[in-house]
Amino acid sequence: MELDLSGSNIKISDDMHTWEEVNLLYNAALKQIQTKIEILNEEFQEVHRYNPIEHVKARVKGAESIVKKLKRNGYESTIENMVRYVNDIAGIRIICSFTSDIYRIAEMISSQKDIQVLTIKDYIMNPKDSGYRSYHMIVSLPVYLSDRIVNVKVEIQIRTVAMDFWASLEHKIQYKFEGKAPVHINTELYECAKMVADLDARMLSLNDEIQAIENTTAN
Ligand code: GTP
Ligand code: MG
Repeated sequence: MELDLSGSNIKISDDMHTWEEVNLLYNAALKQIQTKIEILNEEFQEVHRYNPIEHVKARVKGAESIVKKLKRNGYESTIENMVRYVNDIAGIRIICSFTSDIYRIAEMISSQKDIQVLTIKDYIMNPKDSGYRSYHMIVSLPVYLSDRIVNVKVEIQIRTVAMDFWASLEHKIQYKFEGKAPVHINTELYECAKMVADLDARMLSLNDEIQAIENTTAN
């Protein structure tokens, strides 16, 4: 896709030509999203006296894993295929305290005018068979180069500290067993995921109760 902005010779495109350019653009997109998230968190702290975000992790996928993913999905390793089919070259993970924060953060990000939400996968409402819970968005945002604007995709994963704890261990286990962990381990992981969901719900309702008390004493 390539459109001319009326009255300007700056073009919006999805074009990337070399690996260096891919790296530069996805790094730039990641930096922009990180800054946006930082600003939202600081503003939220200022207005509501409360930090919705515990921490943020960002990474650009290495060339080797991009190529592996393309191969796994039956695509040739070309720059065009990377850009088109690999949605998580730039990835950011936002860890927050409560499930309600996840939806608040997702809404704050999606409502920004220069961010286009391409897909949403809500694995909190619909957990995966493994028990995995998280909120995923693929977004696209413009990166300004000297002669053109390139829309770059970023995968955003938003989850609670408890969900992250579970996902880290589960990932480690699947990695160790190359995805074929013994049944009793998968069953135990699934049970733990249910406990994590229960913990999240109970911590949220505790927090709601405390906030309600704080509000009445403040008035
Ligand atoms: P990938 O090809 O793995 O990127 O998945 P996808 O294109 O089907 O997208 P999806 O949104 O399901 O998963 C994207 C990412 O979420 C994965 O790369 C993981 O980081 C994370 N994820 C998804 N499912 C699981 C899971 O069962 N366990 C853990 N630990 N992480 C998961
Ligand atoms: Mg991935």
